[in-house]
Parts: sequence; C-alpha cells; structure tokens
Amino acid sequence: MPSTLLRNIKQLVTNSSSAPFQIDLIEDGAVLFEDGIVKWVGQSADAPDSDILIDCSNQVVIPGFVDSHTHLIFGGDRSAEFAARMAGESYSAGGINFTVEKTREATDDELRLNASRLIAEMYSSGTTHFEIKSGYGLTLEDEIRSLKIAREFSEDVTLMAAHVVPNEYAEDRNAYLSLIVEQMLPAAKGIAKFVDVFCETGAFSIEESRTILQAAKNFGFQLKIHANQLSRSNSVALASELSAVSADHVTHFNDEDIKNLCDNEIVATLLPATEFSTNSAYPDAKRLINGGVKVAIATNCNPGSSFTTSMPFCIAVAVREMNFSIEEALWAATKGGALALGDSSRGSLQADGPADFVILDAPSYVHLAYRPGVNLVDSTYKNGELVFSKGKK
Ligand code: NIG
Repeated sequence: MPSTLLRNIKQLVTNSSSAPFQIDLIEDGAVLFEDGIVKWVGQSADAPDSDILIDCSNQVVIPGFVDSHTHLIFGGDRSAEFAARMAGESYSAGGINFTVEKTREATDDELRLNASRLIAEMYSSGTTHFEIKSGYGLTLEDEIRSLKIAREFSEDVTLMAAHVVPNEYAEDRNAYLSLIVEQMLPAAKGIAKFVDVFCETGAFSIEESRTILQAAKNFGFQLKIHANQLSRSNSVALASELSAVSADHVTHFNDEDIKNLCDNEIVATLLPATEFSTNSAYPDAKRLINGGVKVAIATNCNPGSSFTTSMPFCIAVAVREMNFSIEEALWAATKGGALALGDSSRGSLQADGPADFVILDAPSYVHLAYRPGVNLVDSTYKNGELVFSKGKK
C-alpha cells in the first residue's frame, strides 16, 4: 500500500499525551500513514517523503470521533413522542416498548439498512468508531439477531436486554431476569463485548441491575450502566462495586458519585443531545472534570431520547450548556470515547495507532463549537481508508 502524507495542517490535534483533556496541538503539522496505521506525526518541515501528498492548508486534522454510546438497531419512528415533549410532556422509559414492537416486526434487512444509513451519517460528521447496543428486541431471538447485525458494523457491541421489562413479562419481572441471566448472557458470549443495564425507576432497580451485571461479569463481559439519567440513585456506587468500564448519562450526581467515578477510574459518558432532546437540565461537566473524573461525550443515538448521529452537535451543546471548555469537549469526544470502550489505541493520532482521522474545513478546532449545526467535515478516514468525502457522493 502506498504511504500518504497529510501536510501543512493548520492545526493538528493529536491527544498524544496520557494526561486527560490535553489535546496536544501541533501548528503546521503533518501525519504520515500507510496500511491503515499512522507511521509518523510532527511538523510539516520535518516530514518524511511519501507516495501520496494531501495538502491541508487552512484545515484542521483531528482524531476521528469515538461514539461510545449508541442504540442503532431499531425499527419505527418516535417523532410524535418528541413533538409531544416539545409541547410539555416529559420523557419516561415507557416509550422504549413502542420501539421494541416495531423492531420485532422489522426484517433483518430493514434493521441493517436503518443502521447503515445512520452509520453513513456518522462518517459524514467525522465519527470513525462507534459502539452499538441491542435493547429493542427483548426476546432471546431478537436480542441475538440485533447483536449479530450490530457486529456487521462494529466490534464494540453491547447486550442491553435489560433496557426495560418487555410488556409480556410485566406481571413476572423475575422470569425476564432469569431469561437474561440463564439464556441471553450465554448466547451473547462471543458476539457482545459489553453488557449494559438501564438502572432507573421504570426500568431496573439497583438490586435487579446488580443481579444482571454480576452474572455478566461472571461470564467475562465488560460492564456498562445507564446511571442517574432521570434521577440520582446508587447506580454509580454499583458501577464502582462491579468495576464497570463506564457509567453513562450521569445527568444527576453528588460528591460521593464523583469520588466513586474518580477512585475506580470509571469513565463518565455524558450525552448532551439527550438533555437537549428530552428538555432536561444539563449536568455540570466541570464538577466531574475538577473531581478527577475522565469524561466521554457520545451521541446516544436512539429513536426515543436522542435521535442524532452528530458528535460535532454534541460538542457544541456540551460547550454551551455543560461547562466544558472546547478542548475538554474535543478530548471527551475522541480519547474519552475510546477510554469508555476500554480502548487506549483509538482517539489519538500517534505512530503505530490506527489512521482514524477527520479533515475539517476550518482554520481552528474551535469552529466545532463556534459553528453549531454546520458540517465542517471535508473527509473522514477510518483505518487509512476514506469513508466520507465532501466532494464525493
Ligand atoms: O439511553 N435510557 C435508556 N435508553 C435510551 C433511550 C431509549 C428510548 O427512549 O428509546 C437512552 O436514553
């Protein structure tokens, strides 16, 4: 494979140091990659020779966004629910069962097509790597088929059979818990990497969440938890007790939660588009960051609470509403996302790492927040391959 050099990059963000929230900027930078791997990073003046040259004058290059929390496998549409919310209704976990019904009705090809359209949107807005959860099937067959379709697009797949108790088990929650523990967890082994639980009023209690997550841990899955989305509970303490890799949402938290997240190195994955789309109060990211917590930003793309694939949109909202600095938000959407997936190789641009990057038509990375709603992406590369180019349809 020929080597390619990006050079004259006005601003090159590398995230190369191990210190959290440091974006490690190089002015007039250059990146050499070959066979999908970054070979060299530095200043244009020192760049080695290459077979192909891409001139990035007046452009910014950043590591590709790592979207560590999505629910892309679903059928149906919930725009009416969104419209009702904008007219004053509040969000509740109940809407999930509507999507469950539509997902069960959908064919494999319909689910695949829906996911691939959303993934094309992701590439066009600079995402190069993403996690996908199941959670709208809620039968053994529908959860496993969701995971298998998800695996066609990503190796970072999460079993979220504990999204809500499906309607047919409403009178016998324990039977649904047994189905998850005794049948779904063993069947998901080798397909899913993570298990996640929606620990919330209207979904799963702390005790139920502990039962499922402990069983998942015993099976060797890494753990995630939807924690403190609608109200504060002891879900972050549960994440600490079981050494989860991330606690997601964390819309509500107190000082004890901050200490638990920091001491146990659990990434807090904040989901700005969710508060935006559910008309909820935003969490204060600065409190988490000042408390030593590593924070990720993700889209939470799903048809109910957050129907966006755009990480730049999430960055803009995070900066405007959650007290992130622009540098912190950019780090959280790249390196933070990778850490939330237990992956230290992605989310940065360094020799020997994957050539996952985005070229932005902007003179400064600040434009990611300064120009909300404007797609600045010129091109997106994943493992050195062009997956989106503005010039090419
Ligand atoms: O992360 N909170 C649980 N799951 C999704 C919402 C799912 C839905 O409303 O369909 C979330 O917000």
